[in-house]
Amino acid sequence: MRSADQPIGVFDSGIGGLTVVRALRRLLPGEAIVYLGDTARVPYGTKSHETIQRYTVQAGAVLQRLNPKLLVVACNTASAHGLPALQSVSPCPVMGVIEPGAEAASKERVVGVIGTLATIRSGAYESAIRRHNPATEIHAVPCPLLVSLAEEGWSEDPITEAVCRRYLQAMPPQVRTIVLGCTHYPLLLPALGRARTEARWIDSGEVTAQSVERLLKGGLGFRTESSRGPFRVLLTDAGTRLKEVGSAFLGEALESVELVEL
Ligand code: DGL
Repeated sequence: MRSADQPIGVFDSGIGGLTVVRALRRLLPGEAIVYLGDTARVPYGTKSHETIQRYTVQAGAVLQRLNPKLLVVACNTASAHGLPALQSVSPCPVMGVIEPGAEAASKERVVGVIGTLATIRSGAYESAIRRHNPATEIHAVPCPLLVSLAEEGWSEDPITEAVCRRYLQAMPPQVRTIVLGCTHYPLLLPALGRARTEARWIDSGEVTAQSVERLLKGGLGFRTESSRGPFRVLLTDAGTRLKEVGSAFLGEALESVELVEL
C-alpha cells in the first residue's frame, strides 16, 4: 500500500471542484492535496459519455504520476460517466462524488437531484440511490444555466433566484431534500434557498469529504505530519478571472497554479 503521507489527488473538469477541496481541507486539514482542473476543456456537462470518459481517464493518468494514496473525482459529470473506466485502470482507490450524495439521499422517502445535463441524463444518481433504497422516489432536474451563474458570482442576484425557481418548479412540492449534484451549486445556496425555502440541501462535496475520512480511517491512513497539508493546483489552462473565481470556490485565496498538459 502507498504511504499515508502521499497526497490525495482531486480531479475536476475545471475549478468548480475547489468546493470539494474546501470541504476536504475543512474536515482533513492535515492532508496533502493535489488538484487537477481541466480548465482547457471545461465544461464537461454538455459533452458526450465517450468524451467525458476519455477525459477522466487522461486526467487520472496525470495524477497517478504523483503517486496519490487516493483519487477523488470531484466533478459530478466525470463521476457519472468516467468513474468505472478510471477505477479499472487506477493502481490506487478512486472514489467519486455521486455515491456519497446518493447514500445520504437514500435515507429520504422523496428526493430531488439537480446537476448538469450530462449528469442527469446519465441516470447515475437514480441508480446509486436505488441501490441503497429502491423505494426512494427521485425527481432529477438538469439545471445547465447554474454553472455560468455561479462562475459569474451572482449567488445573491434576483436573476439567479428566478432561474433557480424556474428549474425547481419542475419538482413537486413534496420534494423537501435536494442533492446539489454539481460542484458549482454550493455557491448558489442563497438563491436556491430563497427559491425553495422549505428544502434541505445535500452538498455532495461535504458528504464526499466525510467518505474520504472514513476511507483514511479504514486503512489508507492519515498524513503523519501535524502541519497543515500542502496544496498544489494543476490546471490545463490559466484563463482570465481564474484566481477571482477559484478563490470564491475554494473559500480562501487561490495562490499559485501550475500548468500541465493531459
Ligand atoms: N464540475 C462539473 C460538475 O460537477 C460542472 C462543470 C462542467 O460542466 O464541467 O458536474
